[in-house]
Amino acid sequence: MIFAKAISRFSLTMLIKKRTIASLAALPETHQMLHKTCRDFTDTELIPIAAKIDREHQYPAEQIAKIGDLGLMSIVLSEKYGGSGLDYLAYAIAMEEISRGSASIGVTMSIHNSLYLGLLEKYGNEQQKNTFIPGYTDGRKIGCFALSEPGNGSDAGAASTSATQKGDRWVLNGTKCWISGGYEAGTGIVFATTDKSLKHKGISAFIVPMNSNGLSRGKKEDKLGIRGTSTCQLIFEDCEIPKENILGEAGHGFKIAMQSLDAGRIGVAGQALGIAQASLECAAEYATKRIAFGKPISKLQLIQSKIADMSVRVESARLLTWRAAWLKDNKRPFTKEAAQAKLAASETATFCAHQCMQILGGMGYVSDMPAERYYREARITEIYEGTSEIQRLVIAGQIIKELAS
Ligand code: CAA
Repeated sequence: MIFAKAISRFSLTMLIKKRTIASLAALPETHQMLHKTCRDFTDTELIPIAAKIDREHQYPAEQIAKIGDLGLMSIVLSEKYGGSGLDYLAYAIAMEEISRGSASIGVTMSIHNSLYLGLLEKYGNEQQKNTFIPGYTDGRKIGCFALSEPGNGSDAGAASTSATQKGDRWVLNGTKCWISGGYEAGTGIVFATTDKSLKHKGISAFIVPMNSNGLSRGKKEDKLGIRGTSTCQLIFEDCEIPKENILGEAGHGFKIAMQSLDAGRIGVAGQALGIAQASLECAAEYATKRIAFGKPISKLQLIQSKIADMSVRVESARLLTWRAAWLKDNKRPFTKEAAQAKLAASETATFCAHQCMQILGGMGYVSDMPAERYYREARITEIYEGTSEIQRLVIAGQIIKELAS
């Protein structure tokens, strides 16, 4: 519904831009329309503010609400719970287009959709869904995901934040870190161990309202990129939550986290593609305008070579991302493919942002042009939701398992 409204609104006011995504023609009509809607929204609403929110370290509440009005802050949540009820392919497409304008907004959209609403819909009971989803579908309120700790990032099974049952309450103690949207979130999904000796099998997932007694936020991290969203620690000191706030079965938290990250990695791949596509467009446009040696530098073969390499990597990563989304939508295993998509797309973002800066030269190094922001934003996509090294480990593990079976 919301999406349909959004399409008609934007098709009226749309800036017709040349389509640069060749593979789009193969998509269903709904997805092509979604792409167009998001592209126009990004051109008119996000690109004009992206540099400012980055510079001022400002959470763009107004734009997130508009994204909510388009139905994108609950894009894959079923309509039964107030979501748009679209699929992961649609999510990947929307993530790319929104992140093409602002990767900060992309990360807020991604964490909220895949690592908050996605988890609640999949693992929550009806009472939890009816309590923690309403109000979180339209971008006015967001959720966060708290897995990493100061002592464990890649080794997610080594969580030491503890959860102890006391009567009808869980009492949480410990510190979570690198929490995207930690300052803005109204509720978080928090992973804590009920028995550290059980290692990953002792971890459970909990739904924690951010105004719970005993929960405080650490300082906002001063980051290289995605500065239009907060990242902070969450500190639990005898933080009490109701017994019924455990999400899924006790001891299944690690698997819940891993499965959710599989889905989340499709979102990050989409975000990385947005940065890569923006870098490609910026580089190609600049190259046609910049004159050197008596002609536009787009006529120079070394520049053409860079543009060709960027486009091949973008299109390849996009197809991997869409394949991972398609597998998930069709209820097929997609752990390996999501890791491949994230790995390819994030390394493509880093590559394209680097090449974009090379093509722009000095102009790429100053903040008058967006190239330096793309360069900074690209780096995080190789770090969060599993580093590139972790993606390789996941991919190799899956391939070895496939060959052995
Ligand atoms: N789906 C379902 N189950 C899975 C799974 C998956 N994708 N991956 C592993 N498991 C299961 C295994 O089957 C195994 O089950 P059993 O105990 O029943 O045998 C169990 O989980 C343990 O598996 P492993 O032995 O493979 O686990 P491991 O300790 O060796 O760790 C890992 C594997 C891939 C390195 C994992 O720890 C990992 O992905 N680490 C990266 C964590 C990560 O991405 N952190 C990002 C933080 S969140 C974030 O960035 C959000 C933000 O705010 C931006």
